Amino acid sequence: MPPAAEKATTPEEEDLLFRLLRQLDLAPEASQRATAAALGISLGRLNAQLRAAAEAGLVKVTERDGPDKRLRFAYSITSRGAAEQSRLRDQFLGRKFAEYDALHAELTGTTSGLNPFQHRTKTMQNQHAPIPELYVSHESAQKLKVEAADLPSWDLTPRQICDLELLMNGGFNPLKGFLSEEDYNGVVENMRLADGTLWPMPITLDVSQKFADSVEPGQDIALRDQEGVILAILSITDRFTPNKAKEAEKVFGADDVAHPAVNYLHNVAGPVYLGGPVIGIQQPVHYDFRARRDTPNELRAYFRKLGWRKIVAFQTRNPLHRAHQELTFRAAKECQANLLIHPVVGMTKPGDVDHFTRVRCYEAVLDKYPAATTTMSLLPLAMRMAGPREAVWHGLIRKNHGVTHFIVGRDHAGPGSNSKGEDFYGPYDAQDLFKEHEEEMGIEMVPFKHMVYVQERAQYEPADEIEEGVTVLNISGTELRRRLAEGLEIPDWFSFPDVVSELRRTRPPRAKQGFTVFFTGFSGSGKSTIANALMVKLMEMGGRPVTLLDGDIVRKNLSSELGFSKEHRDLNIRRIGYVASEITKNGGIAICAPIAPYATTRRAVREDIESYGAFVEVHVATTIEECEKRDRKGLYKLAREGKIKEFTGISDPYDVPENPELRLDTDGVDVDYCAQQVLLKLESMGLIGAES
Ligand code: PPS
Repeated sequence: MPPAAEKATTPEEEDLLFRLLRQLDLAPEASQRATAAALGISLGRLNAQLRAAAEAGLVKVTERDGPDKRLRFAYSITSRGAAEQSRLRDQFLGRKFAEYDALHAELTGTTSGLNPFQHRTKTMQNQHAPIPELYVSHESAQKLKVEAADLPSWDLTPRQICDLELLMNGGFNPLKGFLSEEDYNGVVENMRLADGTLWPMPITLDVSQKFADSVEPGQDIALRDQEGVILAILSITDRFTPNKAKEAEKVFGADDVAHPAVNYLHNVAGPVYLGGPVIGIQQPVHYDFRARRDTPNELRAYFRKLGWRKIVAFQTRNPLHRAHQELTFRAAKECQANLLIHPVVGMTKPGDVDHFTRVRCYEAVLDKYPAATTTMSLLPLAMRMAGPREAVWHGLIRKNHGVTHFIVGRDHAGPGSNSKGEDFYGPYDAQDLFKEHEEEMGIEMVPFKHMVYVQERAQYEPADEIEEGVTVLNISGTELRRRLAEGLEIPDWFSFPDVVSELRRTRPPRAKQGFTVFFTGFSGSGKSTIANALMVKLMEMGGRPVTLLDGDIVRKNLSSELGFSKEHRDLNIRRIGYVASEITKNGGIAICAPIAPYATTRRAVREDIESYGAFVEVHVATTIEECEKRDRKGLYKLAREGKIKEFTGISDPYDVPENPELRLDTDGVDVDYCAQQVLLKLESMGLIGAES
């Protein structure tokens, strides 16, 4: 318990402390006399209060210049004070609800049955009144920012920045910060915070062991974006090592790294979680589509202004085509509600169409709706693809944004198949779980009808309402990607011409896109020689620039300071992956030929590159015995003698690729033939052809 809470024991004292903190937050420059007047107390009492609050670390006292002796000191709220202010506000509301409940019982003989916090958001939602944010006032933020510069600081990852933005702007209301251990356990175990509130997704601040060891619970840290801008202060209350396998099983349904969030959990997230309340200093900076981004309170104000009472939201991470337009239009009509297209632009599934392209597509579709009934807003959420739990989470987030109805489709936020090739969740699990909690959530589900095109009637209709004998047309996501990749026709009945041309602009046919060929294998397996031959053949064909990032060359030019520990090898491969992703993004061909012994690092590089173009993994499967027999550089001999340490295949591991696009058996085969094999693979994938 923070020191102030120990001191302020009676409700009256706590009330005064709350009002004092709020006053200092709102008017930090005010004189003591003005503050005392605003609080309705004497100067003497105010001074006593200020002293106590300063001792408890809630308020900071600084001397100020100037001739007026009565204005000798300035008082400002500290980050601890801001956290205490928010705690006291909730406690006060809780108390008032209890009093209301007692009064209700006295008058009616029954309790009101209201949960203070749920009731609070429910009432507010009806009126679209503002919800609590975690930001301090502009004045306090300026001061806290200066102070926070001296705090230990954590550079947030892109996913943590997304989480923090929604924590601070109330999108994750009622969360007040990153989960404490007790809240985390409750959320993982049964989707509830320690106080019983429904919350399905662990919102945690994962950090490295080194950083975790350098801080202590009770300490404040600055949270910075990737350019070093201080966005918030975290008052650490908890530091704990999670059981990640359990988190994966419970939250995502299986401890299987084929699930993108499980892969993230094990291979990207740090090993230790820090929990505690967050004090918001400023929103993360966005330069793109600023006019299309709204905080929950901005959306609420917009609904209020337009007099929208019922709003149905559509969540999406894909471009909208005619079927979606028809479905959302029908959903709005059925619920007699206004429509909010609410696409996710934070982080979606690796390999998705980038949000820049999607937003341009959404803008093209927006014209097809009656303008007075529909709006679009961008949500900076980092999705986890957690199916049922994700649907409930999406519902709660939408409720915070002032939405009353939410469309949940077949396989909502589905992550694709597991490592056995089966779906992680049943197609309607998300709808079932949502339904179970619908009432408690205070937002109504509109189940998604799968819409298909009926050729005879030239219109979209719900699949379950169609009689037998009519011709139903449908193009799946995979088929659409194939058509785009191969530059084939996409019919007008499927999508809008503006959307298709936008997609074609970003995703030219594969034969015109950049790509990466990533060779992996033991030292001396023949990677470099085959890669060289391939490069020459591709240059002979022309059309796209070709760059070879050979293991030895990279180590000389990019990674000369690195050795062969796991950490250094990973860094080396991430650098190669970064350069290859830039080449791929800009339409070139990158050929990489490192050993790249670790599967997780290869996967991470694949994910980076696949957002821009194809990643073709080629395993040069020469056996370690054969490599050692050839021993072209004489390194195996030295490794056997122990003169080279951590030598791959001898004294260091190599994860054999499980599903490479191509496996080359080099036994008794010449280099030219191997390079030909790669060319044939590239041709079969549509990456080279007549147009390249
Ligand atoms: S890694 O693991 O991908 O970072 O390795 P890479 O950068 O491809 O390695 C480049 C060359 O370094 C030589 N070499 C070693 N390889 C493996 N283990 C140890 N300890 C080692 N020390 C030096 C080796 O010749 C690699 O060249 P290739 O082209 O693979 O034969």
